[in-house]
Amino acid sequence: MKVLMINGSPRANSNTGLALEEMRKIFEENGTEVEEFSVRGKQITGCQACGACYKLGRCVMDDMVNEIASKLAGADGLVIASPVYYASANGTLISLLDRLFYSCSADLTMKVGASVAVARRGGCSTTFDELNKYFTIAGMPLASSSYWNMAYGTRPGEAAQDLEGMRTMRVLARNMVFLMKSIALGKEKYGMPYREPRVMTNFVR
Ligand SMILES: Cc1cc2nc3c(=O)[nH]c(=O)nc-3n(C[C@H](O)[C@H](O)[C@H](O)COP(=O)(O)O)c2cc1C
Repeated sequence: MKVLMINGSPRANSNTGLALEEMRKIFEENGTEVEEFSVRGKQITGCQACGACYKLGRCVMDDMVNEIASKLAGADGLVIASPVYYASANGTLISLLDRLFYSCSADLTMKVGASVAVARRGGCSTTFDELNKYFTIAGMPLASSSYWNMAYGTRPGEAAQDLEGMRTMRVLARNMVFLMKSIALGKEKYGMPYREPRVMTNFVR
């Protein structure tokens, strides 16, 4: 099993990173390979809606987005984690995700997704919902935990004190491993679900 993790915090020693490290321990204990990407120090432009990806099968702006897209093809799951900024995910991360999910030509169906939100005090639920939208438009089942996937902290490192949040991360990682293994078995036994030809009505009559 292989999992990609995207850390949406621009900070060093970020609380988002702490949440991901808690998950990483469980993944590694369970023999799951982890590869992590971070937006820290990266300039990631938002989608220009140029439509070049329809032909290219990748984004015309050749940066970390294409690197993650190519690695996603061989991964069984994806964790997206973000600090909460104004009750939403970090803007650089959103630029990355818009382009990744729009341009990625790999079939993401049945790769397991999990999102994590980290905040000082408010906005975790809206951010969690926002991030889950990327998975649920791509045929990706969501892994869940014993609470919504969130942790609290303000200054770097504080999230380690959120014992319930850290437990939530560990349970999430265990459930995700189980789901990925179960889906791998299910694919062997039943194959992938039938894929209907695409229909786009665009609400234009
Ligand atoms: C621009 C900005 C906006 C923020 N907005 C919120 C917010 O809406 N709610 C909240 O609880 N914390 C907010 N915070 C605080 C961060 O979510 C908090 O410090 C968190 O620990 C950052 O995670 P990180 O260490 O992974 O970067 C904001 C921080 C910044 C820099």
